[in-house]
Amino acid sequence: MRVLSTVRDMRAASRQVRQSGQALGFVPTMGALHAGHIALVRAARAQCDVIAASIFVNPTQFGPNEDFAKYPRTFDQDRALLEAEGVAFIFAPTPEEMYPSGASTFVEVEGISDRLDGASRPGHFRGVATVVANLFHIVAPDKAFFGQKDAAQVAVLRRMVRDLNFDLELIVCPTIREPDGLALSSRNRYLSAPERAQALVLSRALNAISAAYRAGQTNVTRLLDAGRAAMAAEPEVRIDYLAIVDPDTLLPLDDAAPGALVAVAAYVGSTRLIDNIIL
Ligand code: PAJ
Repeated sequence: MRVLSTVRDMRAASRQVRQSGQALGFVPTMGALHAGHIALVRAARAQCDVIAASIFVNPTQFGPNEDFAKYPRTFDQDRALLEAEGVAFIFAPTPEEMYPSGASTFVEVEGISDRLDGASRPGHFRGVATVVANLFHIVAPDKAFFGQKDAAQVAVLRRMVRDLNFDLELIVCPTIREPDGLALSSRNRYLSAPERAQALVLSRALNAISAAYRAGQTNVTRLLDAGRAAMAAEPEVRIDYLAIVDPDTLLPLDDAAPGALVAVAAYVGSTRLIDNIIL
């Protein structure tokens, strides 16, 4: 496995893979890897010949009062995990390498980027779309792997890939959870023991909505009432959004139907967690 930190080296490595006729799979991450990330790597390995992963805590997707400075950075552990999974290349650039002085070009996926997480994190999806577009240009993979855990990110990136004709396939992999239902997240390590217990209310609320839907309820207002009632079991957890939306546009639905995205974001202590299910 090689660790590459410059655009030039990553480009050269990727060019060689392409010239040898092998399919290149790409897993972009911000590091602090857990089983959710590893599941993406395994999916990539099942579908591609050579795997590249990136580790880059992207400053432009964090707001001024967010956790960029304290975001967990565990490079040595991440490197060992990726090596054990048979990853060929880790692309780990510095912020200066990705954003040379004076960088002023951004990718804005209008509309979608202002919904769900985009509504509470202004500029977040502009940062995500910009860095992912840049990574796609540098790595030039055949397939890129993302987690359903970040459903709004998937919607933004799908639209970007379509609108700008990126020559790659975007593959979305299921959310990996702890045995008790908590979706794995690099941010779970911020949680204290009591907060860790409170955090279960997110997946419980989604399950309550899913149960009501399976019992025949399709009215979104009623379904959201069921979700909010479940959230009320942990009054210290503050809901940012709980919504049932179209998974492609992220626009709210009046009636739930198969394929609808049920998404929640909430603050557990000062940690913002997200989760979702597809009906
Ligand atoms: P990060 O939060 O590190 O996540 C990297 C990838 O892992 C994303 O596609 C995310 O959806 C996926 N992932 C995270 N938790 C998961 C889980 N429990 N199950 C399955 N997949 C999971 O998302 C980002 O980084 C950044 O925004 C990035 C795309 C790298 C751009 O900076």
